[in-house]
Amino acid sequence: MNPLIEFQGFNKFFGQHQVLADIDLQVHAGEVVVILGPSGCGKSTLLRCLNGLEAAQGGSLRLAGEELLGPDTDWRQVRQRVGMVFQSYHLFGHMSVLDNLLLGPLKVQKRERAEALAQAEALLARVGLLDKRDAFPRQLSGGQQQRIAIVRALCMNPQVMLFDEVTAALDPEMVKEVLQVIQGLARDGMTLLIVTHEMAFARAVADRIVFMEAGRILEQNHPEHFFTRPRTARAQQFLEKFSFVESLPTSSHKELS
Ligand SMILES: Nc1ncnc2c1ncn2[C@@H]1O[C@H](COP(=O)(O)OP(=O)(O)OP(=O)(O)O)[C@@H](O)[C@H]1O
Ligand SMILES: [Mg+2]
Repeated sequence: MNPLIEFQGFNKFFGQHQVLADIDLQVHAGEVVVILGPSGCGKSTLLRCLNGLEAAQGGSLRLAGEELLGPDTDWRQVRQRVGMVFQSYHLFGHMSVLDNLLLGPLKVQKRERAEALAQAEALLARVGLLDKRDAFPRQLSGGQQQRIAIVRALCMNPQVMLFDEVTAALDPEMVKEVLQVIQGLARDGMTLLIVTHEMAFARAVADRIVFMEAGRILEQNHPEHFFTRPRTARAQQFLEKFSFVESLPTSSHKELS
């Protein structure tokens, strides 16, 4: 089976600074890939390139076999197939939850209202928020808004979902409800690329861990292997920092996070 997503010899510069170097990465349909690595290593940039939010300077990037690095790519169209959710949810504050959800399907995809509405309501029910359909974003908690942002991306029927630290800005008690939604998508067989600092979640949800440093992929490994016996010394050092935090007593853990 051909990969759904394929980076080959992929490079990205910001001015003189090379932030992605010789990236070779394949993701097959239904795979859940978690990207880990120290701050500034290029995780967000990699996801943003896949969504056309950043332009690349060389190599190849294919989605379902179709080359995206070329002058003719219609990124608006690609973005309907590649859903992305960020740390901040950017819901439209002056619109109800349902209007936020229907904007893309009706205005961009020109779908039938009844059909789009049925899908939006089914997805809201699935994340436990159907009763918030007429609420405005300011009436919702951060965790609820983030679940709505995930539903908004799903309403476009994407082929793959990209998650960039979607729980990083949430209070600890809201993190779990958002991660459970993502885990549900993984179980349903959706193709997911996830950047997260939640190591327990990464280990539980991933089919594969991609470890990056300084714009390069240093290691791709099965999660159980990566977390117990990583191949590279850099991954080992990276994991040690997390085990230090996790081994602290709860009160100091809170201060650190
Ligand atoms: N718009 C930009 N202009 C110039 N440099 C940038 C820009 N965006 C990112 N960078 C640089 O590119 C590198 C990779 O950044 P990126 O945001 O992808 O890292 P990251 O792995 O997501 O980090 P973090 O874990 O902190 O989110 C960093 O050195 C960053 O400073
Ligand atoms: Mg980032």
